[in-house]
Amino acid sequence: MKKVVLAYSGGLDTSCAIKWLQDKGYDVIAFIADVGQGEDFGAIKERALKTGASKVHVVDLKKEFVQDYILPAVKAGAIYEGKYLLATALSRPLIAKHQVRIAHEEKATAIAHGCTGKGNDQVRFEVTAQILDPKLEIIAPVRIWEFKSREQEIDYAAKKNIPVSVTKKSPYSIDINLYGRSIECGVLEDPWTEPPEEIYYFTKDPLAAPNTPKYIELEFEKGIPTKIDGKSYAPSNILETLNKIGGENGVGRVDAIENRLVGIKSREIYENPAGTIIYIAHKELESLVLDRETLHEKEAISQKYANLTYYGLWETPVKKQLDAYIEETQKTVTGVVRLKLFKGNCAVVGRKSPYSRYSEKLATYGAKDTFDQSYAEGFIRLWSMPFQGGKNV
Ligand code: ARG
Repeated sequence: MKKVVLAYSGGLDTSCAIKWLQDKGYDVIAFIADVGQGEDFGAIKERALKTGASKVHVVDLKKEFVQDYILPAVKAGAIYEGKYLLATALSRPLIAKHQVRIAHEEKATAIAHGCTGKGNDQVRFEVTAQILDPKLEIIAPVRIWEFKSREQEIDYAAKKNIPVSVTKKSPYSIDINLYGRSIECGVLEDPWTEPPEEIYYFTKDPLAAPNTPKYIELEFEKGIPTKIDGKSYAPSNILETLNKIGGENGVGRVDAIENRLVGIKSREIYENPAGTIIYIAHKELESLVLDRETLHEKEAISQKYANLTYYGLWETPVKKQLDAYIEETQKTVTGVVRLKLFKGNCAVVGRKSPYSRYSEKLATYGAKDTFDQSYAEGFIRLWSMPFQGGKNV
């Protein structure tokens, strides 16, 4: 019997996929990846076994997710189309990498996932797997099976005794991990409709947030957040703590129309209290310590990095090369940023660093000024020289 390793979430699609793959003659091994979605993995494992998986792997990927995926994205300043911090996109190459590893360990010839044919995630899973092992067969049941609607899937589940709790299924499609939460479908599919309050989980309604601002000091070492208000935290605890503080103050809600890789535009809501605070603070610290040309170069690199991540090209040489460039820029990104969180807003109100390039003596308009203004005239004459004396047409 051919073996397949299925990336299993415990939901209706991947539960039906277990039986569907069995019907097609496969021995199904379920792989449950813990990327910080905070679910009952014991119960999900039980469900996989009850549905017919011959074996289940539950793998805690949280540490690796933070170290090798989230922190590099933080250092890169990666944000897709200026709005999306890439929480879901970052988790996919990690899950795919372990899926391929398990396939090798289990001597499976195929892997499977529960993504639809309209999204980005299918691309991220499959591109990663194909780079790591092009010989593995890839099966995407949801893309090819006969069910035309959720109802048909539910009928199939009932007929096949698949234990799924779909009665109170929320109308939204939600993806959660340590770095954030992505919400789509239901009423959100109308881009004119304001997201209802019920979709949020990490963030309080800014209207209900405290009436006094919350100040925090976030400290970075070589581009990585290390301390909150002078207290050291492991990176995953920083995320957890900032999610709490930011969420309390309604920080980190994003409502986006984004361009998917498969060519369509989609409406997505994101909740990223920690990611938003870290992104804003990190960028601010870079403004203080990086010289102008590095800063401008890095802006272009950030965008390239975000696009690569979004497009599923994480396991590529160019991504590695960009990591090396980014690492070099982060050597001096050490210091503290003071932030004021208030009713959904996250404002920088102070910054300092031992590597600061800001010189008060040069910038001041006061008596301490050391800037020699007599240099300016000659500088401007030479600066404009290439453009003088031509004919305007
Ligand atoms: N649009 C985001 C991306 O492509 C999130 C995808 C998953 N979203 C979801 N609600 N299930 O990375």
